[in-house]
Amino acid sequence: METVWIAGASRGLGAALAHVVSASGCRVVLTARNAPELEKLRTLLPHPENAVVAPADLTQTHDLAALVERIWLEHGGIHRAFFCAGLAQWSNPLTTTPAAEEQLLALNYRFPVQAAKLLAARMLAQGSGQLVAVGSIAAEFGQPESAAYGASKAALERHWESFYAAWAHRGLRVQLMQPGVIQTTIMASALDESGAALGQQAKTHTGQPPEAVAQRLWAAAQTNRFKTYLISPTERLALLLHRWMPTLFYTLLRQRHGTA
Ligand SMILES: NC(=O)c1ccc[n+]([C@@H]2O[C@H](COP(=O)([O-])OP(=O)(O)OC[C@H]3O[C@@H](n4cnc5c(N)ncnc54)[C@H](OP(=O)(O)O)[C@@H]3O)[C@@H](O)[C@H]2O)c1
Repeated sequence: METVWIAGASRGLGAALAHVVSASGCRVVLTARNAPELEKLRTLLPHPENAVVAPADLTQTHDLAALVERIWLEHGGIHRAFFCAGLAQWSNPLTTTPAAEEQLLALNYRFPVQAAKLLAARMLAQGSGQLVAVGSIAAEFGQPESAAYGASKAALERHWESFYAAWAHRGLRVQLMQPGVIQTTIMASALDESGAALGQQAKTHTGQPPEAVAQRLWAAAQTNRFKTYLISPTERLALLLHRWMPTLFYTLLRQRHGTA
């Protein structure tokens, strides 16, 4: 039985993916900070008997090697890893503190990169494995209120592409998923300029249902494609506009964000 590690599994896209992976018959290892939420999720999965929780704060990079080693040894390896954990931002780029920017980089960029290196060392030795990062279309353009978030996802994309260049021909499937807006509670934990969670000040977040995105993500993970956009037709149009008519794109973006 294949072991699949989902980092950032307690809610949102990671939790929805856990359902899809469990239904596929794989063993699933669920990681996030909130242990009771992980345990609740485990009991609700199609095959709870093939799921385990491994709670951890993934920004504590000095604990990461021990966590990866423990999961690897307990389950006879990790065949596929999905890095879903992420932290959003909604703050003025002028007054956002360096500490808040560091928090975003720590989870969205440094964690998946360090975890991938730890896993790749083992996967390359056995000649197989899969590393799937969840980025964002926010990596592809600038947004006034999400400067560090976009930067963290852009850094992730380039680093992941380098991993692809280094390892894809050596038996590793290295992939990047770029979702558009997903209907999760991500904005409640998004950081304000001081690095505190927005909580109830967060705007309601609409978008694609996480269950639908998880299905598309899992399907894309069965291919050898490096990069897959998990976006709506409107978001696809926005990316084209950004590429070919950037001035108009940013005028419309400012209008939409009420900063025109
Ligand atoms: N929602 C969107 O519109 C959207 C759009 C594009 C891309 N994405 C990306 O998709 C991914 C999933 O987003 P989502 O909407 O599902 O977010 P979410 O609902 O806020 O879930 C985030 C997950 O990350 C975990 N997490 C946060 N900080 C952590 C830490 N320090 N250590 C361990 N786990 C941590 C959370 O669990 P705990 O709090 O229990 O630790 C939770 O399981 C993210 O990478 C996000 O950037 C989302």
